[in-house]
Amino acid sequence: MSNGSTSVERLKVRLAEVASLPDESARSLPAEFYTSPEFHELELARLRGHWMCVGHVGEVREAGDFVATELLGEQLLIVRGADEELRVLSNVCRHRGNQVAEGAGNSMRMRCAYHHWTYDTGGALVVAPHMDERPTFDKADCSLPQFRHEVWNGWLFVNLDGQAAALATQLQGLDAVVANYHPADRYLVFLEEVEWQCNWKALFENFMEGYHLSALHPETLHPITPTRLCKKMVSGDAWTGYHAYYDPAYPPRGPFHEDLTEDERNNSPMYGIFPNLVVGMATNFTLFMILRPHGVDKVRIRWGVTGLQDAPESPAVTEYVNLCRAFNAEDEAKLATLQIALRTKNFDGGPLAPDDYEGPIWDFIKFLHRALG
Ligand code: FES
Ligand SMILES: [Fe+2]
Repeated sequence: MSNGSTSVERLKVRLAEVASLPDESARSLPAEFYTSPEFHELELARLRGHWMCVGHVGEVREAGDFVATELLGEQLLIVRGADEELRVLSNVCRHRGNQVAEGAGNSMRMRCAYHHWTYDTGGALVVAPHMDERPTFDKADCSLPQFRHEVWNGWLFVNLDGQAAALATQLQGLDAVVANYHPADRYLVFLEEVEWQCNWKALFENFMEGYHLSALHPETLHPITPTRLCKKMVSGDAWTGYHAYYDPAYPPRGPFHEDLTEDERNNSPMYGIFPNLVVGMATNFTLFMILRPHGVDKVRIRWGVTGLQDAPESPAVTEYVNLCRAFNAEDEAKLATLQIALRTKNFDGGPLAPDDYEGPIWDFIKFLHRALG
């Protein structure tokens, strides 16, 4: 066995040991899980078998809208077809494998800039210069393959290996938690791509625990959702979360959807769909982050905001985005120091805070064990 596979086997054993601790003795993962290139390779390979979020339907509203993105090393082309159908195509040209499209835009034709092979919005090859001179060539053999996708409440998920069980079924329990907030009716009003200097799992864990809200965000979030009011959410195999209750001293966060109960008007469900979508669903706006691992110590983030009105320019949106920028900056800085500290050979994980504060991290560790163990 090579050293790499030895260390992966050792880490899998360690993951199993941590995940099998009794709930009341829950612990965080040892440092090596956030720094080992071999463990990272295992994650990349195994996560192809899961549903992973790649975007929001608000990015591709009109026929011809497209977004080129990347997931676990696969180049993807999210496109709204001329037939209005949403598809996730391979963004790898069937000629010699270059990227077909870059960035985002609107076009009924996707032309690979290398030799000008050109595809329609369904992925069919429509132009291939000089190839008709080769009698064995058939355009029909050269369509861009499609990846399996599902849309859940506006978020677009892809399963790269095509074998995962239906996502909607796995999220039925979460549907009940979020129903009255009507996430699917919220409009995408802001989206930005950034990269933070930390392991993707550290960001998932950070977003999913309320333990740090009062400590790390004394001016931004503590006045709204203090740590002491966090309540763990009933969770499932495919998701976890907590309710961030609002400080009664904070003004009501309306306008409210008429379906919201009194209790729902007073908290934000904070949920994470394993492995890479985290959502803070306030009564007025939704903040979400789509995480993509990029090496052991970087995470690419597509973060966005959805709101009850299709009004990206409104002052309320600007105010909310600015609030998010402020607490995101606090998290980003603290996750960068976490990543530096985790280079230690001397941290074997530590005790997690009670469920209301760090229970979602425990759920995530158990998910990792199911997914990678
Ligand atoms: S690789 Fe795309 S046209 Fe040649
Ligand atoms: Fe935070």
